[in-house]
Amino acid sequence: MNKIKLLSTRLANQIAAGEVVERPSSVIKELLENSLDAGATRLDIDIEEGGIKLIRVRDNGGGIDQEDLPLALSRHATSKIYELDDLEAVATLGFRGEALASISSVARLTLTSSTGEDGAGWQVVASGRDMEAEISPAPHPRGTTVEVRDLFFNTPARRKFLRTEKTEYTHLEEIVKRLALSRFDVAFNLRHNGRVIYSWRAGNSRAEQERRIAQVCGPAFMENAVHIDIERHGLRLSGWVALPVFSRSQADLQHFYVNGRCIRDKLVSHAVRQAYQDVLYHGRHPAFVLYLDIDPATVDVNVHPTKHEVRFRDNRNVHNFIYSSLHHALAKVTPEDLLIKPGEAVFEQQSGLVQQGVAVGEFQGQERINFAAAAPQNPSGFGGEASSYVPSYSAAYPQGHVQEQMGRYGELHQAANPLPVNDEQVPPLGYAVAQLKGIYILAENAQGLVIVDMHAAHERITYERMKTAFAQGNLQAQPLLVPESIAVSQKEADSAEQFADIFKNLGFELQRAGPETLLVRQVPVVLNRAKVEQLVRDVLSDLIEHGTSERIQHHINEILSTMACHGSVRANRRLTIPEMNALLRDMEATERSGQCNHGRPTWQLQSLEALDKLFMRGQ
Ligand SMILES: Nc1ncnc2c1ncn2[C@@H]1O[C@H](COP(=O)(O)OP(=O)(O)OP(=O)(O)O)[C@@H](O)[C@H]1O
Ligand SMILES: [Mg+2]
Repeated sequence: MNKIKLLSTRLANQIAAGEVVERPSSVIKELLENSLDAGATRLDIDIEEGGIKLIRVRDNGGGIDQEDLPLALSRHATSKIYELDDLEAVATLGFRGEALASISSVARLTLTSSTGEDGAGWQVVASGRDMEAEISPAPHPRGTTVEVRDLFFNTPARRKFLRTEKTEYTHLEEIVKRLALSRFDVAFNLRHNGRVIYSWRAGNSRAEQERRIAQVCGPAFMENAVHIDIERHGLRLSGWVALPVFSRSQADLQHFYVNGRCIRDKLVSHAVRQAYQDVLYHGRHPAFVLYLDIDPATVDVNVHPTKHEVRFRDNRNVHNFIYSSLHHALAKVTPEDLLIKPGEAVFEQQSGLVQQGVAVGEFQGQERINFAAAAPQNPSGFGGEASSYVPSYSAAYPQGHVQEQMGRYGELHQAANPLPVNDEQVPPLGYAVAQLKGIYILAENAQGLVIVDMHAAHERITYERMKTAFAQGNLQAQPLLVPESIAVSQKEADSAEQFADIFKNLGFELQRAGPETLLVRQVPVVLNRAKVEQLVRDVLSDLIEHGTSERIQHHINEILSTMACHGSVRANRRLTIPEMNALLRDMEATERSGQCNHGRPTWQLQSLEALDKLFMRGQ
């Protein structure tokens, strides 16, 4: 064994830097957080060569007193906490007293600061093995400038891990964006290699906040996002969530802040994923900018060296709160929320995405429009409550044929399209004008042309009704006149017996008629009878896959979704105009009807403006 010796200060700091300073983006994070902690309202950021050559942050915060300067660059020195109790409820972004010491041990760092208005300031650098602070006068307006040059110049092994200038810059920019979304009241100016990249003004009104979100996350996100603000039991969740149809192939537009600190946390992502579960296309990722405010004493921020993770004292409660707030918010989005009102500014539809959703509100013209009248009051009329509207579904179900169900859409609503007196009276999804190729419904609303994917829309409506009915123990069943015999494997037949109760809850009655034969005696009324055999097989395989009945409860929505898919109107079905209108009104009254069960959009809008552009009218 060699002799035991104390490490030099620099080496000790370099070792500590291993955890905190990984690349230029980690440096910018620490510098910006310091400036925000110092109360800055304006940040000027200068970057050269992706931050490898230079990172300079200038702020107009409170500055550092001359006598404190020697400590600013030394390790375990902080002005933010003094004792353990402070750590328990820390309100600043920094608290370790480590960042500047670490950075200055692996780069050339100079800090210049002034606390007064007289323009006199002081500069500090740490040099040598002992990182001795050297202080000299340097003019500076009130605030602080930290300059970090030649990252890892003295630690070549780490320098090798840096990527290209472009990659490093991209990471760095991502951090600036994240912080910019955490503080709308602070102006951010970012320059790279002398070129102005961003210049985001400060502003705290809702419009100003949304302007910044559009600048940082892109206008398409803002166009497709809904604002939420929910408070319960001392927890508050606010921010913007994109509709499921604006999903991403990567989890790259997900910003979550806990008390202003950006975090990436498993519990949070799980809660969010669950909230989107029912509405997101497989393998897609939701997009959001969300802020959770919570009593700081109930979160531990000191669990990760870079503070990217936190620990909540009441895990389950926080999870439930996030999940249920988002779940609810997504269910309640209405086309009226999203359709552009006349006279309002129109965002350029860069991505080709348009607004969609569901309506639950009351329509202006409802006295005149027979079929719309009862819909809003009874969006989940599957259970058969007395309502003039419900029969269009439930009276049709006993026949068990989609064709007949759809037929009933028409029976109830004999009237041809009532011509609205003005746009105000047109419901959000408008009135049907035609059907295209047996697949799409074309409708006219106040904005222009609404195109509906008939199967996708009907599938969602059926699914939501089934979920409600199932929850109420109300899924209606219908005995088959002639029981249907299905050949299955022994394993499938065994499972059918084992899960008899679940089948019953779903509206089926299955009977074993032999080692490899099942008799279907009763089916849920929503089903197209022609599909019974396929459906029983699908449900059986769902049940076998999910094993125990407890797990099945978790997957019951999947099973209902399978059933809804089979029970929904197929392509190539001709619908009459009143049938189509009834479907549109159902969509407006159904939660989450902006997407089908697989997360595909159910409708799209082509505004008159967009159509005019297409035909170069008025140009
Ligand atoms: N831009 C700034 N304006 C004013 N004071 C600053 C600024 N940057 C750093 N300081 C002072 O220097 C101290 C050390 O900063 P440093 O980032 O190393 O540690 P910290 O912010 O306290 O904790 P952490 O390591 O968690 O970031 C801070 O506590 C603060 O008092
Ligand atoms: Mg700090």
